[in-house]
Amino acid sequence: MSFKEEIKRRRTFGIISHPDAGKTTLTEKLLLFGGAIQEAGAVKSNKIKKGATSDFMEIERQRGISVATSVMGFEYKNKKINILDTPGHQDFAEDTYRTLTAVDSVIVVIDVAKGVEPQTEKLVEVSRMRNIPIIVFINKIDREGKDGFELLDEIEQKLGIKVRPLSWPIGIGQDLKGVYNIWHQNLNLFSGTSKQHIEESIEIKDVNDPQLDTLIGSDAADDLREELELVDGVYPEFKIEDYLKGEISPVFFGSALNNFGVHELLDAFIEIAPSPLPKVSETREVNPTEDKFTGFVFKIHANMDPKHRDRLAFVKIVSGLFERNKNYLHVRNGKNLKFSSPTAFMASKKSIVDEAYPGDIVGLHDTGNFKIGDTLTEGEEMFFKGIPSFSPEHFRYINNADPMKSKQLYKGIDQLMDEGVAQLFTLQINGRKVIGTVGALQYEVIQYRLEHEYGAKCSYENFPAYKACWIETDNQEQLTEFKRLKHRSLADDKEGRLVFLADSAFTLQMTQEKFPDIKFHFKSEY
Ligand code: G4P
Repeated sequence: MSFKEEIKRRRTFGIISHPDAGKTTLTEKLLLFGGAIQEAGAVKSNKIKKGATSDFMEIERQRGISVATSVMGFEYKNKKINILDTPGHQDFAEDTYRTLTAVDSVIVVIDVAKGVEPQTEKLVEVSRMRNIPIIVFINKIDREGKDGFELLDEIEQKLGIKVRPLSWPIGIGQDLKGVYNIWHQNLNLFSGTSKQHIEESIEIKDVNDPQLDTLIGSDAADDLREELELVDGVYPEFKIEDYLKGEISPVFFGSALNNFGVHELLDAFIEIAPSPLPKVSETREVNPTEDKFTGFVFKIHANMDPKHRDRLAFVKIVSGLFERNKNYLHVRNGKNLKFSSPTAFMASKKSIVDEAYPGDIVGLHDTGNFKIGDTLTEGEEMFFKGIPSFSPEHFRYINNADPMKSKQLYKGIDQLMDEGVAQLFTLQINGRKVIGTVGALQYEVIQYRLEHEYGAKCSYENFPAYKACWIETDNQEQLTEFKRLKHRSLADDKEGRLVFLADSAFTLQMTQEKFPDIKFHFKSEY
C-alpha cells in the first residue's frame, strides 16, 4: 500500500462524554467489531471510582489501566482506527483537552435520560475551538429517556452545534423495537439478546413499504413514518463537507451495552470521519503527506515503578513516516534523539514498531527530555500550536515538608508539571510556589507521587484565588499601574508569562473596569 493510501485509511479519534454515559462500553463494542478483543469486559473502565479521593492504590491502579488504554488501535474494513482515550473524570479534564489536540474527530456519547451534562459541554467546547468534526451517539435507548426531538433541541442549544439525525429510534426503553438507519435506509430490530453477536440489518429503502408494518406493527410503523417526515422537515440535509468543517454533527441512536446501533455508528464513522488532517504550526501548515516526519507530544505517562523512573511520551505523527532508530530533532532543546523501541498500540497491547504513519500514535521512552506540546522534526525549526492551559479551579501553596529533600522536591514538581498534572505559578512578590489544578484530587496525586517517585515531602496551604488570568495589553502605562497596584496577586507561569491570580469574581470585575485596555484571558493562549 502506498504512503498516501496508508494515511487515507487512518481514523484517529476520541470518544468524549460525561462519566457514566457509556464511553467505556462503547469503546469496548467498537473493539469487538474490530476483532481487537474477543469478549465484553476486556476493556477496563479507566474511571476513578467515586470516593477514590484518598484511595491511592486505586489511583495507581487506574493509572496503570489508563496507560494500557491510552490508545487503542484496530483494523476494521481495511481502515486503521486509533481510539485515543479521554479520561471522563473532571479532575483530569486537562488531560482530555490535550488529547483532543491529537484527534482528527470525536464521537460524543450522551445518555438518553440525562441529556447534555456539564462535562459533555466543556469537552465539546474544547473540540469546537479546533473545529473538530463531531458525531453524536445517543446511548442507553433501551432505558426510558427523553424524547428524541427534545434531546436534539437540547444538544443544539447547550452544545451550540447543529445536528442531523442519521438514525432514528423506534420506541424507547420498554417499547424499543429497533433503530431505523436513515443514512443507509435499513432497519435494525432490537431483540434484546443481541448483546454479543452482530445483527443483520433489514433493508427498507422506502419507509412506506408494508414490510415495515409486518416487522414492527402498524402503529410503530406509522409513528416512525411521521417522525422521519418531521426529521426531514426540520433538519438540513446531511452533507459530509459540512460535517468535516465542524458545521453539522450527525446523530446516531443506540445502546452500547446491548451492542445495538453501534454497527451503524461504526460503519458511518469510517465512511465520513476524516483521515489525518493538516496541522498548523507557528510557521506554517503541515500536511500529512509531506515526506519529512513531524510529530508532537500530547501526553506523558510516568512509569509507576519508582526504580525505573522513565516515562512514556505519546507522540502523534503529523506528517511523514516515523522510523525506529532514525535521528529526530527535539526542537525545543535542540537535541537530536533517536528511539530504539518506539511503541505502537494495537487493541490494549503494546508492541515495538519499526515505522508508523501520520495519524498513528507512538509511545517513546523518555528520561525527562519531553514536556507536553514538544515538537519532533527531521531538522525543521518549528513548533506545533498546542492547546492552551486553562485557568485552574483550585489553588494551593506548596511547601517543602522535608528540607533535606528540596532538590528532589523541585525536580519532582518540575517533572510533574511537564507531564501536565497541574500548573505551577511563582508569585512575583516572594517567589512562593502555587499549584493550580482542575480538581482537588490532583493535590493528593501530586503529594503521593512526590513521595513515592521522588522521595520528597510536601504540604499545602490554602491560597485564596478564584481564577488565573493571562494578561495581554498594548497599553504600557496601564500595565505599569496594574503591576504596581496588584503586585501581591501577580505570578509567573511555568513559561514565564504574566498571570494575575484574582481572589474573587468581584476583584476581577473591578480590575477589569479599572484597566479597560488590559485583556484578562482565562487561558494561556489567545
Ligand atoms: P463511562 O465510561 O462513560 O463512564 O460509562 P460506562 O461505559 O462505564 O457505563 C456506565 C454505566 O452505564 C455502566 O453501568 C454500563 O453498563 C451502563 N451502560 C452503558 N451503556 C448502556 C446502555 O446502552 N444501556 C444501559 N441500560 N446501560 C448502559 P454500571 O452499572 O455503572 O457499571 P457496570 O457494573 O455495568 O460496569
